[in-house]
Amino acid sequence: VIKMTDLDLQGKRVLIREDLNVPLDDDGNITSTVRLDAAIPTIQQALDKGAAVLVMSHLGRPTEGQFEEKYSLAPAVKYLAEKLSAPVSLAKDYLDGVEAKAGELVVLENVRFNVGEKADDEALAKKLAALCDVFVMDAFGTAHRAQASTHGVAKFAPVAAAGPLLVNELDALGKALGNPERPLVAIVGGSKVSSKLAVLDAFSKIVDVLVVGGGISNTFVASAGNEVGNSLYEEDLIPEAKRLRDTTEVIFATDVRTTKEGFSEWNHNSVTEVKQANEIQADEEIIDYGPDSAARAAEIIKSAKTIIWNGPCGVFEFDAFSKGTEVVARAIAESEAFSIAGGGDTLAAIDKWNLADKVSYVSTGGGAFLEFVEGKELPAVKVLEERAKA
Ligand code: 3PG
Repeated sequence: VIKMTDLDLQGKRVLIREDLNVPLDDDGNITSTVRLDAAIPTIQQALDKGAAVLVMSHLGRPTEGQFEEKYSLAPAVKYLAEKLSAPVSLAKDYLDGVEAKAGELVVLENVRFNVGEKADDEALAKKLAALCDVFVMDAFGTAHRAQASTHGVAKFAPVAAAGPLLVNELDALGKALGNPERPLVAIVGGSKVSSKLAVLDAFSKIVDVLVVGGGISNTFVASAGNEVGNSLYEEDLIPEAKRLRDTTEVIFATDVRTTKEGFSEWNHNSVTEVKQANEIQADEEIIDYGPDSAARAAEIIKSAKTIIWNGPCGVFEFDAFSKGTEVVARAIAESEAFSIAGGGDTLAAIDKWNLADKVSYVSTGGGAFLEFVEGKELPAVKVLEERAKA
């Protein structure tokens, strides 16, 4: 692909697609700035090269064709204005042209307000392309979506290039998956086997050890013939869990932390009990790894040379249920191995214990990270490759 870093951007109008889809609380405050912080070096570089910079992104999943305040990029723009040394503004109407001077940043309001964005509409893609001399795709987190602002625009822009963040993401994932230093250990947590089945399957073919956590682990606990009480698990995927265990070394909980409290009662001081996996009662629910299982996972992580982490070991949002995830997260952080972490929950866990600087690479991708790991082609990257060949 053509790289932004190789281009002369002096006096050019550069349209950069970023993934500024940040989590917001009910008051519109940004709860994780990871994606913004990752986009800033790209934007600053384009500004420093003397470009007039337009940045576009989606936020959330609004209804097409109408503006809705809660999906506005305004909070992201405010943050960028604080961090960048350049004038920053937000443009609501931009499809027929935008005023921007060299050294200035204009953020285009949520691209998903535009009719045709999600359908990768050609007329919309052409309008976006007409705004610039150079289009830069930098939104790794949205590279798995073939939409007008990620894919269509790249077909019609005068020049289409990959931004430094996108390049770094692809390099880091390529390093971990392509020809990794071994042992390669993957940690896959989260609530459901079904939503991660393709990832588990892909990992089972390449990793030396697969550590599973959360509800995924529960299905494996059940697959070993244990009663799991009220725990979240998927009975119909027990055969899949058995198949994975037959082909790969899979680590799942052998001791667990349980609670009898219902979901609505959960809090930081919830009452829990540690049990062996074969002692779970009908009125109990597994909410975390037990200490022995967490220690065993940590040992395996310590022996790894490459680590890929996606998903927690328990309901770590509540302190009472967070020990297992914390032990695993700290083991990853303390490891000398090349470690890569991705996914929204995973980033929240990294934030909770302040470990971002200790993981070799923190990916901004959620769905895109998973699709890349599954070996799927990312359409927004593929179009850049095709343009570079043409
Ligand atoms: C993400 O958060 O994974 C990306 O920003 C993509 O968002 P989407 O799933 O709404 O397309």
